[in-house]
Amino acid sequence: MPNDHSARQYHVDAAKYQEMYAASVADPEAFWAEQGKRIDWIKPYSQVKDVSFAPGDIHIKWYHDGTLNVSANCIDRHLETRGDQTAIIWEPDDPEEPAQHISYRELHANTCKMANVLTDLGVTKGDRVVIYLPMIPEAAYAMLACARIGAIHSIVFAGFSPDALGARVNGCDAKVVITADEAPRGGRKTALKSNADAALAQCKDSVKCLVVKRTGGETSWNDGRDHDYTALAKDAADSFDPVEVGAEDPLFILYTSGSTGQPKGVVHCSGGYLVYAAMTHEITFDYHDGDIYWCTADVGWVTGHSYIVYGPLANGGTTLMFEGVPTYPDASRFWQVCEKHKVNQFYTAPTAIRALMGQGPEFVEKCDLSDLRLLGTVGEPINPEAWNWYNEVVGKGNCPIVDTWWQTETGGHMMTPLPGAHELKPGAAQQPFFGIEPKVLDPQTGEEITGNGVEGVLVIADSWPGQMRTVWGDHERFEKTYFSDYKGYYFSGDGCRRDEDGDYWITGRVDDVINVSGHRMGTAEVESALVAHPKVAEAAVVGYPHSIKGQGIYCYVTLMSGDAPTDALRKELRDWVRQEIGPIASPDLIQWAPGLPKTRSGKIMRRILRKIAENDYGALGDTSTLADPSVVDDLIDNRMNRD
Ligand code: WTA
Repeated sequence: MPNDHSARQYHVDAAKYQEMYAASVADPEAFWAEQGKRIDWIKPYSQVKDVSFAPGDIHIKWYHDGTLNVSANCIDRHLETRGDQTAIIWEPDDPEEPAQHISYRELHANTCKMANVLTDLGVTKGDRVVIYLPMIPEAAYAMLACARIGAIHSIVFAGFSPDALGARVNGCDAKVVITADEAPRGGRKTALKSNADAALAQCKDSVKCLVVKRTGGETSWNDGRDHDYTALAKDAADSFDPVEVGAEDPLFILYTSGSTGQPKGVVHCSGGYLVYAAMTHEITFDYHDGDIYWCTADVGWVTGHSYIVYGPLANGGTTLMFEGVPTYPDASRFWQVCEKHKVNQFYTAPTAIRALMGQGPEFVEKCDLSDLRLLGTVGEPINPEAWNWYNEVVGKGNCPIVDTWWQTETGGHMMTPLPGAHELKPGAAQQPFFGIEPKVLDPQTGEEITGNGVEGVLVIADSWPGQMRTVWGDHERFEKTYFSDYKGYYFSGDGCRRDEDGDYWITGRVDDVINVSGHRMGTAEVESALVAHPKVAEAAVVGYPHSIKGQGIYCYVTLMSGDAPTDALRKELRDWVRQEIGPIASPDLIQWAPGLPKTRSGKIMRRILRKIAENDYGALGDTSTLADPSVVDDLIDNRMNRD
């Protein structure tokens, strides 16, 4: 029997939400001045907010005359009261391997060791460090060690290819890359160090490589460049004074996909980000002291930054880090881990829920989930069927589900139902978090659409402390991407509906970004990988509905004349993209396209390609502006998705 949570005291109830929300938007300065006290400052702030969304003068600063250290906030300030409490529970890929319980005191020692090793490699305040690690405790030590030094980390998901890693190392001009020999995942091993070797061949000779021993597998070794973390850590001192940084000094860069060009480096800074991550973690998940909280994301994504490491640890919480996948050794793994570690809050992606739902309820039912109290989802819209399954089979109808809408750019939750405050609606992001002012605009005119029962593009009218500050090295791109289409607002790139009750429903991206298994993918990135293949003349990539992944990757490819369109070539192109970007970018469907629908000025009409990929070619709209309307008939006849 699940526990009865009916008597639970939530941090926020319906009346308190109304009151706090109204206060947060009526006087943001006062509201955030108070919330800033959640964290410890070395020098307190006197300025709370200095923000402009005005064209030509975009700047965003929070608490900017305050100083702090993020690592001290996540570790040191808890030592006196909870030094022996578990900070991180680490669950390895292989269930036979013992889990680790890392106390705050141990987290302190290990983070300091990492900080000393990095310092010995020449890392100082403001330097960039790329982290390319499996989901092991060293990933958290590395993040917190950078924060302790005042260095800026940039994590690259371990599933990314050497080319993608190399581009990011060069993009932020990193001094050191931290990697491991191998990354175990789902019973298989990825040769991370050899990926890093291939990436570093594209980088400056001065970049150093720090290698954590995870499996003990063989790796090649470059004596001048490579350093053995495991050996160095043994002798490193276990104390390191946290470096004082300004609230607006960058904490991390995280590369993310946009609608054009290559991924951009989203910059988050120290003070405001930490306040926002800590507050949202506590309130959205209704986190209370002593709770065991598990977010299944990877630290390579923003969800892992804010809701595995920074938010939970700033709150003195116990956060679970999982190295594996939901289906290894079998589809019970998530629920076995919940049972084993008595997880109270569980946060995952709809794609995982859909995949596990397909395996049947017995994998869930054989586990004791009576400690679960709250469930969360993130990354993509959740369909009501998956929501209901999550609610009934996993939550036993007794755990509120928080469907959290947010983005790499926003640093933390932007809209979500709050447990105890909102009547849940399956699939709705529902209501804004404190301080967030969502607006619905007409995509054509840019005018605000007021009232309920309306749909349009989603923008945010004012800043919040967790907002990204700039694109690394390219402030102009920051302004152009987020503030130029709809002047005076932050443009999310998402569409949304506000229903009759005033609740928000995210309808998905309105730009050329697709969402594959909760991972953001720029169609332009996949296109540029495809056209880099010698046999490809032209390529256009769109998303299409996929029952597990949410969206699949549909590629239209025009070959160089003389090259035969074979299944073998399809496989070759698929492998090529995996190698160029990583397995998450692997095309699902490749259609040979003798021609692409273009306007007379040569612009590809992606709307038509999307419709055909969705198998919805009956409603193509006006095709009269096409240079050659007959290409459309060929594309329809040979379409790959006939569902
Ligand atoms: C989508 C992940 C619907 C959305 C934290 C957004 C969602 C993009 C939800 C950001 C949700 C995220 N409901 N859609 N609850 N959460 N999205 O940067 O399209 O990897 O713009 O951040 O994911 O993806 P990102």
